[in-house]
Amino acid sequence: MAVAAPISPEHIAIVKATAPVLKEHGVTITTLFYNNMIAAHPELKNIFSMSNQTSGAQPRALAAAVFAYATYVDDLGQLSAAVERIAHKHESLNVQPEQYAIVGKHLIEAVAAVLGDACTPEIGEAWTAAYTALADIFINREKQLYAAHENWQGWRRFQVQQKVPESSEITSFYLAPEDGQPLPSFLPGQYISLQVFVPQMGHMQPRQYSLSEAPRSDYYRISVKKDKGKKPEVPGLISNLLHENYKEGDVLELTAPAGEFFVDPKDGTDKPIALISAGVGLTPMISILNSSVNSGSAQRISWIHGVHNTEVRAFSKHIHDTCAKDVNNNINATFFVTSPQQQDVQGVDYHFTGRIDLSKVDPKTTLFLDDPRAEYYTCGPYLFMRDVEKYLISVGVDPKRIHLEVFGTGDE
Ligand SMILES: Cc1cc2nc3c(=O)[nH]c(=O)nc-3n(C[C@H](O)[C@H](O)[C@H](O)COP(=O)(O)OP(=O)(O)OC[C@H]3O[C@@H](n4cnc5c(N)ncnc54)[C@H](O)[C@@H]3O)c2cc1C
Ligand code: HEM
Repeated sequence: MAVAAPISPEHIAIVKATAPVLKEHGVTITTLFYNNMIAAHPELKNIFSMSNQTSGAQPRALAAAVFAYATYVDDLGQLSAAVERIAHKHESLNVQPEQYAIVGKHLIEAVAAVLGDACTPEIGEAWTAAYTALADIFINREKQLYAAHENWQGWRRFQVQQKVPESSEITSFYLAPEDGQPLPSFLPGQYISLQVFVPQMGHMQPRQYSLSEAPRSDYYRISVKKDKGKKPEVPGLISNLLHENYKEGDVLELTAPAGEFFVDPKDGTDKPIALISAGVGLTPMISILNSSVNSGSAQRISWIHGVHNTEVRAFSKHIHDTCAKDVNNNINATFFVTSPQQQDVQGVDYHFTGRIDLSKVDPKTTLFLDDPRAEYYTCGPYLFMRDVEKYLISVGVDPKRIHLEVFGTGDE
């Protein structure tokens, strides 16, 4: 493993001084970087989402990360949440230490090419030192993450045991390991990466999916929304492939569960939790809810969920049944529906019309605002989560108790 010399004060000064220039050219640099790197290492097409490349989401995410790093190079504590998220994503994609040299070479070359004469040897050296220091942070953290599941490194073959439609657009896949060996547990809220061969590309493509059931040793469950595409002409590649081409008995490859968005059952089940999701963002929440119920704890849980209409809403019956079985009234559910259908009954099928608006729910019994231990988990479109976070902070919740799970690169 490469060990970097600590970055010197002179290099820090140069990196900070050149950060604004980098920000200005960030996406140009990272786009050039990816194109050159993939041309030199076509095998990397198997791990980068080609859709994120063509849409520009990944170059934007990398440019934002590099710029954030340059800004906080002397105060890296500010970046710990971002580093943790990226390290888990890398772990889930089986990124290896030796690949950092490849990324570093092409990134620094792209910086030099875009900045031209403005990239003096001193600037080049400072950025190389900074990259090496950042790479070491990731390499070390990822080493720890891999060590936590030493019997499962890389991709493991799973069979689709069962495919169960949960709504008009979400289908669950029950995935059992082909080797028949017991599956490791995971922390409710975490995700796996799966990879499938894409015939029209001629290579593999990975995607992440939250585990949508409490941990079990015989199968993992994921629940996938068929992504019709923001533009109708660009339907999601893998979600549609899974829905249409993958049937019971087919094989997919998975990496071990990862992710920094979770409820740790060891943290104590006396803390109330509010699970606030929109659309398919309910998947990690189902795992969290089911895990708590299975543990027999008396944890107070609020399920707050919003959808466009009840046709697309998944797990409605499961939530109703879970609340009905909860004789102590520890679990409560609030449903928002933007466009209720004629047959939907307010108070039964849904509670509020419109998008999720936390000012409409009971501040104590549903949002637990009187309990300073309460934790808030939110997942759904990025701007929705930002609104949830903003509202909770405005009513006095400490941001440290608000957890977001982003189903993308976080730039949308
Ligand atoms: C931690 C995590 C957990 C997740 N959990 C779940 C889950 O539980 N369930 C679930 O359904 N999903 C989940 N996702 C999302 C999932 O990983 C995929 O992103 C999703 O299934 C879409 O993948 P796709 O291959 O179908 O779409 P992609 O082909 O990746 O396309 C994604 C979007 O980009 C758009 N797009 C593609 N190409 C372009 C272009 N050239 N220009 C503009 N736009 C373009 C598409 O229209 C589409 O809307 C999760 C993601 C993460 C990161
Ligand atoms: C210091 C170096 C690196 C930085 C700053 C970095 C940064 C990032 C960021 C910001 C993301 C997006 C995270 C998210 O979606 O939340 C990401 C994802 C990713 N990274 Fe890295 N990364 C680095 C090194 C590497 C290396 C060495 C590899 C392996 C070749 C790699 C492969 C990937 C892949 C495959 C993804 C997912 C991309 C996608 O799905 O579109 N990264 N990285």
